[in-house]
Amino acid sequence: MNRDSTNAHTHLEQQVEELLDDLSLREKLGQCVMIEPCFCLEERNSEEFGDDFSSVMDPEYLEMLLVDYNIGSFLFGGASRIGDGSPVAWADYIARVRKFAHNNTRHKIPMLFGIDAVHGLNFMKGSTIYTHNLAVTATWNPQLARQYAAMVGTELSSIGFNCNFAPTIDVARDTRWGRVYESLGEDPYLAAEISRALVEGMQGNGDLAACAKHFIGYGESNNGMDRTPADLSERGILENHAPPFEAAIEADVLTMMVSGGDVNGMPIPASKRMLTDLLRDRLKFKGATMSDWEDVERLYSRHKIVPDRKEAVVRSFNAGLDMNMAVSHIGAVDVMEEAVKDGSIPMQRLDQAVRNILLVKFKLGLFEEQPLDIQHAGDLVGSRQSRALAEQLALESITLLKNENQILPLDRDTKSILITGSSADSKRHLCGGWTLGWAGAEEDDLECKTILDAIREKVPSATVTYVSDIDELREQDLAKKDFDVCISVVSEEPHAEWYGDSMELGFEEPEEALLRAAIATGIPVVVVSVIGRPLNVSWLDDQVAAMLWAYLPGTEGAQPVADILFGEHNPCGRLPISFPRDASHVPVVYNARNYESDEINTRYDPLYSFGYGLSYTDFTYSKLKVPAEVKSGEEVEVTITVSNAGKVDGSEVVQLFLRDIFASVTRPLKSLKAFARVSLKAGESKTVSLTLTPHQLSLYDEDLKFVEEARPVEALIGDQVGEFRILG
Ligand code: BGC
Ligand code: BGC
Repeated sequence: MNRDSTNAHTHLEQQVEELLDDLSLREKLGQCVMIEPCFCLEERNSEEFGDDFSSVMDPEYLEMLLVDYNIGSFLFGGASRIGDGSPVAWADYIARVRKFAHNNTRHKIPMLFGIDAVHGLNFMKGSTIYTHNLAVTATWNPQLARQYAAMVGTELSSIGFNCNFAPTIDVARDTRWGRVYESLGEDPYLAAEISRALVEGMQGNGDLAACAKHFIGYGESNNGMDRTPADLSERGILENHAPPFEAAIEADVLTMMVSGGDVNGMPIPASKRMLTDLLRDRLKFKGATMSDWEDVERLYSRHKIVPDRKEAVVRSFNAGLDMNMAVSHIGAVDVMEEAVKDGSIPMQRLDQAVRNILLVKFKLGLFEEQPLDIQHAGDLVGSRQSRALAEQLALESITLLKNENQILPLDRDTKSILITGSSADSKRHLCGGWTLGWAGAEEDDLECKTILDAIREKVPSATVTYVSDIDELREQDLAKKDFDVCISVVSEEPHAEWYGDSMELGFEEPEEALLRAAIATGIPVVVVSVIGRPLNVSWLDDQVAAMLWAYLPGTEGAQPVADILFGEHNPCGRLPISFPRDASHVPVVYNARNYESDEINTRYDPLYSFGYGLSYTDFTYSKLKVPAEVKSGEEVEVTITVSNAGKVDGSEVVQLFLRDIFASVTRPLKSLKAFARVSLKAGESKTVSLTLTPHQLSLYDEDLKFVEEARPVEALIGDQVGEFRILG
C-alpha cells in the first residue's frame, strides 16, 4: 500500500471511530442486522400494515425498521420483488429508503442494499441473464470474467444497490450438490484466479461491495447434499477450499457471506476457529462478514447447538460474525440488545462488528452519495454491450466433450435435421435457477432466442423437424424424412439450493426416454446438454456421435450453441469439474490424494477429466523447458511450444500442473498451478511462458505451515514432462 492510500485508509478509520463513539447501543445493534423488508412485512403484515404489499414503502413501516430498530442493511433474495420489478421501481424504492434514512435517523448512516445478482441482474425483467459461475470458470479466461463482473457491477449500482451477494466462489467437490452450477468448479487454483477477477471486476468502480460466499467448506458435505454436515480436515479446508477466498481477500473484497454449513461438528456461523482464527488471523480478511439467510436462527432451530435464540446470537457474534442476515426476524435486534446488556456479548466485540460494517460504508463513499437518477435507472440494463458480453462468455465456456468421426461441425448445407427435447424450445432452461425467481423463471417472463430458433436461423434452407416429446417422435415417418442428423437437447429442471441436490445424477425420466428413442432411430445423435453440472452421461457417451456441454448459458446462450454446431466458432471451453462415471463414483476430483497403483482402486478415472475439452482442431505440445533447480523464494519460468496441427483456427488453454515426486506429506497426483489461453491460426505455433511463484511451489507441511519444502517435482503440460528440484 502506498502512503496516500494508507493515509486515506486512516482517515476513513478515523471517521468510523468518530461515528462509532456517537452511536447509542440500539444504533450499533441495528447496523448488525440485515432485514428483507418484503418478508418482514409479510410476517407483520395483517396486524400492523394492512395487506398492501406496497407498504414496503410506507413511512410508518420504514420508521419501524429504520428508527425503532435502527436497521442498517436491507437484503433482497431470489424471490424478492419491488413494485413491478422494473429498474425504475427498484431505484425509486431505494431512493425513498435512502431519503427516509437521511431525513429521519440521527446519524444519517446510509443503508447497505444487498441482492443476489449472481448471473447478471437476474432478478429483473429484461435484463441480460449471463451464464452461471461454473461456466464462467470453464472459459479459463479471467480477463473476460473481470469484464463480465464489471458490467454487472455497473448495472447494479446504477439502480442504487451497493452490495452484491456475489461472487459465489465455493469449490464444489461433489457433483450431487444442487449448487454446483453456482460454484467455481473443483480446482482451488482455477477457482482462485476466477474469484480474483470477479471481485476486482465487480468492485472496480468503488461503489459496490462484492460479497464472496459462502465461507467455507460449503461445497464438500459428506453426502453431497446442500447444507448437510461436512467432515473436512483442516488440510482439506486450507488446500481445497480457502484459495478462492484468499484471492478474494487479496482483491480487497469488502464483504463475505458465511456458510450455514456444519463443518466438523461446528456450524460456521458459530465457529470462532473459522470466523476469527482462520478468516481474520490467518487469511487477514478486513471487511465485514454476514451470515447467510436466517443462519443465526438456525443455530438454534436446526443445528441445536444452543438452547434459544439469544444464545444463537451470542454464539455467532462472539465467534466473529458481524452481521446477522435475520431476514424477517427483526426481534434479533432486541435479543442482541439483551445479550450486550448482560455482558454475554462484550461491548468490544459489538464495536468491532459495527466498525467493520461502517468501514465498508465509508469505503464505498455512501456518506457522500449522489442522488439516484431514477428516470434513467436501468438504461444500462440489458444493453447491447452487456448482451454481447454474455454471448461471448457463453461462447467461450461451451465445452465439446465428444466428437466421433468429426461429425461436428455440421455442414451449413445439411438438408434435414431432427431436433428433439422440450428444452430445445425453452428459454427458462437456458437460464437455470436464480432467474426472475429463486428456482428459475416462468417461460413467458423471458425474452430471448431458444436453441431451436438459433438453429433454424442458422440453416434457413434446411428442413428442421422438431419434436418435444417421445410421442411426437413416434409420429414421425422417419424413413421418409431421411434425417442427416438428430440434435438432442437435454436439460435439468431449473433449481436452486437443496432443490437441486441429486442422488442419482440422472436426467428426468421423460428426457431420458426421449433421448433413448432418438438414439434408437439410428440417426447420428449430437447431444447438446443444457445442464448445470456433470450428470451421469456414461451411457450416452457410448451411443451418441457428439456431445456439447452448454452449461446454463443464459438469455444469449442459444446463438453460441448454433454457432458452434455449425462451425462458425471453434469450441474452446475446458472442464472446470470432472465427470464421474456414475453417481456411485462420486466424489471424483482430479486433485484428491489419489495413488498411482494397480492394486488399489484410488485412481482418478473419470469419464471426462478436469481441464478436458475438444476443439475442431488439434493442438500439440513440444519443447517444455524448466530450470533444473530453483532456490526458495525465486520464481520459475516454464516455457512450452504449442502448435495448432489442424486445419482450422482455434483457442487452447495451456495448463501447467505440478506433481511432487516426493514430499513430506502425501500430495495430489497433480495440481494446476498456472494456465494461459492461446489463440492459434491453423498451422501456427507459439511459445508460451508461464511463471510459478514461490506461493505456487509451497505446500502445507505436517504442521499445516505453508512452506516451500525442498523436493523434486515434475511440471506437466499436455504430454510433456519436465523435472526440477526445489532447493528449499
Ligand atoms: C443463499 C445465498 C443467498 C441468500 C440471500 C441464501 O439462501 O444460500 O447464496 O445469497 O440466500 O438470498
Ligand atoms: C433463498 C432466498 C429465497 C428464499 C425463498 C432462501 O433460502 O436464499 O433467496 O428468496 O429462500 O423462500
